[in-house]
Amino acid sequence: MATVPALRIQQLRKTYGNQVEALKGVSLDVAEGDFFALLGPNGAGKSTLIGIVSSLVNLSAGSVEIFGTDLRQQRDAAMRMIGLVPQEINFNLFEKPLDILVNYAGFYGVPRKVALERAEVELRRAHLWGKAQMTSRTLSGGMKRRLMIARAMMTRPRLLILDEPTAGVDIEIRRGMWDTLREINDAGTTIILTTHYLEEAEHLCRNLAIIDHGSIIAQGPMRTLLSRLDVQGFVLDVDGPLPATLPTIDGTTLLARDEDTLDIDMPREMDLNQVFTVLDAAGIRVRSMRTKSNRLEELFVRLVARPEQSA
Ligand SMILES: Nc1ncnc2c1ncn2[C@@H]1O[C@H](COP(=O)(O)OP(=O)(O)OP(=O)(O)O)[C@@H](O)[C@H]1O
Ligand SMILES: [Mg+2]
Repeated sequence: MATVPALRIQQLRKTYGNQVEALKGVSLDVAEGDFFALLGPNGAGKSTLIGIVSSLVNLSAGSVEIFGTDLRQQRDAAMRMIGLVPQEINFNLFEKPLDILVNYAGFYGVPRKVALERAEVELRRAHLWGKAQMTSRTLSGGMKRRLMIARAMMTRPRLLILDEPTAGVDIEIRRGMWDTLREINDAGTTIILTTHYLEEAEHLCRNLAIIDHGSIIAQGPMRTLLSRLDVQGFVLDVDGPLPATLPTIDGTTLLARDEDTLDIDMPREMDLNQVFTVLDAAGIRVRSMRTKSNRLEELFVRLVARPEQSA
């Protein structure tokens, strides 16, 4: 028997009052237990989609179901299953982290005693237990973001939705947040995440959708989408100086970035040895190499490349 998806969106449309068509008929299923990435450039419609799913924005057409519960017909029941970490910090900066968590849980009907216990668990997991009684205003940006995740977990949501949870957070703290999110997902919570750090999505997520101008332009398992990439790029550090004319290697594009760096785009199935043989024959010695960008980034750039920007 097919299980009910954690999130089912069908033909979702949103036109804002100013006639901006933010979503143009988006359909999407997220399976229970999944770790799902929703990607797209600025203004693509990600926050609009998340806003609709979390009932902050009214949809114009289409339907949303959370674990089979229709958002419009049974709003409260659907909302109780969701935890939201919004893009903007939206807690009271003069409240203490412990109070923010306990009051939030209280709002959703969690008894105070239970809420206090949970708050300690969540604040410890967010590495904020030591800050529980401080004014939230004094927390750093990364701590504030972790506090929003802790708050969302207070109702023990079955579906956790995070809108750019790691924006502006340094790499070390971001990695720590990845561990936390993975732990939450491993414990059974379905997670949907938007991010502009594609390395993050590639690292964490099993499935993804890329949205652009209000429509989904790619969707599926991370691995399947990445395997669509038929070209890969490398940067080669060479022992300069380079010869006046670079050798040609059929099927590849070889460029000199500067006198001791080469840039190569080559078909995925092509043997690297072939490249090295030609370079060797031309007297070019490669000291080290790295991939040009991460693979999801490469795919993303190709898919959302705007004609007007390529000029
Ligand atoms: N409240 C609003 N009123 C009018 N237009 C809006 C509103 N919110 C968003 N929009 C417009 O809808 C479109 C989609 O915006 P949205 O915030 O959903 O994008 P996003 O994918 O989250 O972008 P970002 O990556 O920058 O957060 C944009 O053109 C935006 O200007
Ligand atoms: Mg957004």
